[in-house]
Amino acid sequence: MTFRFPESFVWGAATAAHQVEGNNTASDFWLLEHVPGTIFAEPSGDACDHLHRHPEDIALLAGLGFGAYRFSIEWARIEPEEGHFSRSALEHYRRMLSVCAERGLRSCVTYHHFSSPRWVAADGGWESRRTVDRFLRYCERATRALGDRIELACTINEANLPVALALSGVLPRDGTKHRLPFVAEAARRCGSDLARFAPFLIADPFRTRDVMLEAHVRARDVIRGAVARAPRAGVTLAMQDLQAVPGGEARLAEARAESFDLFLDAARGADDFVGVQTYSRTRFGPEGPLPPEPGVPVLVMGYELWPDALEGTLRYAAARSGVPLYVTENGIGTDDDEQRVGYFRGALAALVRAMQSGVDVQGYFAWSLLDNFEWMLGYGPRFGLVSVDRETQRRTPKRSARLLGDVARHGVFDPERFV
Ligand code: BGC
Repeated sequence: MTFRFPESFVWGAATAAHQVEGNNTASDFWLLEHVPGTIFAEPSGDACDHLHRHPEDIALLAGLGFGAYRFSIEWARIEPEEGHFSRSALEHYRRMLSVCAERGLRSCVTYHHFSSPRWVAADGGWESRRTVDRFLRYCERATRALGDRIELACTINEANLPVALALSGVLPRDGTKHRLPFVAEAARRCGSDLARFAPFLIADPFRTRDVMLEAHVRARDVIRGAVARAPRAGVTLAMQDLQAVPGGEARLAEARAESFDLFLDAARGADDFVGVQTYSRTRFGPEGPLPPEPGVPVLVMGYELWPDALEGTLRYAAARSGVPLYVTENGIGTDDDEQRVGYFRGALAALVRAMQSGVDVQGYFAWSLLDNFEWMLGYGPRFGLVSVDRETQRRTPKRSARLLGDVARHGVFDPERFV
């Protein structure tokens, strides 16, 4: 079976500022990484030094055959102190967008990818409605400076992730911040306390979801209104394929309603697209989420190797939202690039099945361009198409990068040749 993608289909790879740029010192995550007793495996440090090496990285991406780059702009660099907007940070991102254009890459820019300025986290963070107004002001400033060069704008990356992790049993339902002593210490270090300190992923999952939903809905209009030639705007969602075993239907329905539907319903008739981000599946039984199924390989991230998941999430997101979709992240953390090749082969076949069933998918971004900082897990899990030597920062494309780049270049997927 050979599948030819539409001419307009966008192929890219994705990164996020905090995971690749290095030295994001004004952010809440940098603080959390450096507090005694931290649960972060290691600090992000120089990361991939993408702040300085982005011209080389963007050239590499284009050279592999891809046509687009998804990256995030960092609020903590653009507004390191409340109301102080850094012209040089905005100019940096404008230069990045120029490099993309010079290399013939289309741009997909995320305004918030997990990290926030420390001052935001210290003053209510993602549990507080004050953050919505602050986020809107940042989106407006950033779009005025950059918007004419952005094609797709993702307001918030995986705004539903904390709630999705809570519903699948990975996080406690009331969040982790009261349980981890290092968070209280981080709050103290930025002159805050546990009641007011609320970084993404550590804050209360349900309050985070509600604040982020409002932030997204209002930011999408701010972004579309800030410049004459405005980007298309949408949100990206963490969407594991949720499956019920007999008796698990009610728990599955609850997880979908609480984690996906609020965002997909808000997108209907209003967002320009939804970004679907799928890595695996989660099964539900009568008591709730189930552990991995015996016999299915489990990845370093703790979830199953399940590339087929993408078909179910795309079908669900399309049916519920009715808007065009992009796969804004899909990939696998593994040291074995042959396993990555197999994963992408399965995931592209799932993408094709979804498209053949009528789902309007307009692009696919692999996670990730580079081996990068995997948040609490440090540099352990490797998601990159391109490896990065941690001593020298030398980049080496993997075989998976070349195979995926060839699909991107020719717009044709042939599973027989993707081996
Ligand atoms: C996030 C990325 C992360 C990836 C792999 C997604 O949830 O958007 O930042 O690195 O998954 O775990």
